[in-house]
Amino acid sequence: MKQETACVHGPWRFEEKTGALSVPVFQSASFRHPALGESTGYDYSRVVNPTRSVLEETVALLEGGKFGLAFASGMGAVSALAKLFPPGSRIVVSEDLYGGTYRLFHEYYENYGLSFSWVDTSDFSKVEEALADRDKPVTALFIETPSNPMMKVTDIAGCAGLVHRRGGVLVVDNTFLTPWFQNPLGQGADFVIHSGTKYLSGHNDTLSGFIIHSREEDAAALREIQKSEGACLAPFDAWLTLRGIKTLALRMEKHQKNGRAAAEWLRKHPKVEKVFYTGFADHPQAALSAAQSRGHNGMVSFYVKSRTEAEQVLKRVKLILFAESLGGVESLITYPLVQTHGAIPEAMRLSAGVNDRLLRLSTGIENPDDIIADLAEALS
Ligand SMILES: Cc1ncc(COP(=O)(O)O)c(C=O)c1O
Repeated sequence: MKQETACVHGPWRFEEKTGALSVPVFQSASFRHPALGESTGYDYSRVVNPTRSVLEETVALLEGGKFGLAFASGMGAVSALAKLFPPGSRIVVSEDLYGGTYRLFHEYYENYGLSFSWVDTSDFSKVEEALADRDKPVTALFIETPSNPMMKVTDIAGCAGLVHRRGGVLVVDNTFLTPWFQNPLGQGADFVIHSGTKYLSGHNDTLSGFIIHSREEDAAALREIQKSEGACLAPFDAWLTLRGIKTLALRMEKHQKNGRAAAEWLRKHPKVEKVFYTGFADHPQAALSAAQSRGHNGMVSFYVKSRTEAEQVLKRVKLILFAESLGGVESLITYPLVQTHGAIPEAMRLSAGVNDRLLRLSTGIENPDDIIADLAEALS
């Protein structure tokens, strides 16, 4: 199956008894046992739910993995994966990444014996240095590529080679490009993470999160973690995400077009100092991006000249909504300094480029002329 077909059908054709095309929402916490010691395969929805299972198989299919696990949010997925690493593990992480992931690792998992080093993973020599570092072998390298919000690109295959040579695993947060544009497992990654809340579900109407992998040796442990901590995805949210994935290919192509149109327009605007967009021919990692991805998303970050101007844009946008998310059909604008990256210490935030002049735009699927007209008005 090609990706578009897999998005529409996944592992599902129709429901045997009624012929229903849409996956039924099995809104049941519990399932009757046929007899003592017997099971239909479904006993309790925290463990397995039929609607969630179809979604888990769908995302695994799209990412080219053997196993998919669905969680109540992207953070639920990151948290479950972190539990796979025993106390004492050393984890190297992209310094420019979603602030919530930073908060979870720094404020919580550090208290449970994991240690984290933060590096600019788009600079390969810095990754080499961080992995080679010290007496303690690295357990995992966790990267976000393209990164949020600076759109830096990290070499997936290169990082996989480096971390594998040291006995560790590579985790890639693929939220920004989705399997439509990038498949990290095929490039050597061991685990893929998604905030399904973003492009996968695509309609700003549900939270979801995923871990996808092919590691037989970790499959049982991850299921056990999902079952034990209970942050599993609810049946209706699983259905909403399945419904969103059906149009993933169409939406991503449109997001890409709108992202490019907005990025090119912003770049020419006198009040905009710099634009960060992975699709520019002069993006610092354009060649790497072309080698490891099949396209670009609708994400564009940009610097205006002052904090006052940034605040004015947020106040003046009308069509574009000032809201904290990305990847949905509606265009959204965010102020990373106080929102998505508010949890990151100032020095680290500033060294990554997240200052008070940075705005992050997630272009939706509206007509690009309307998005640009709104930006023009807001910047005027
Ligand atoms: C790249 C990335 N990963 C993970 C997350 C966390 O996902 P969720 O909000 O679904 O918990 C986000 C949220 O913005 C994100 O942007």
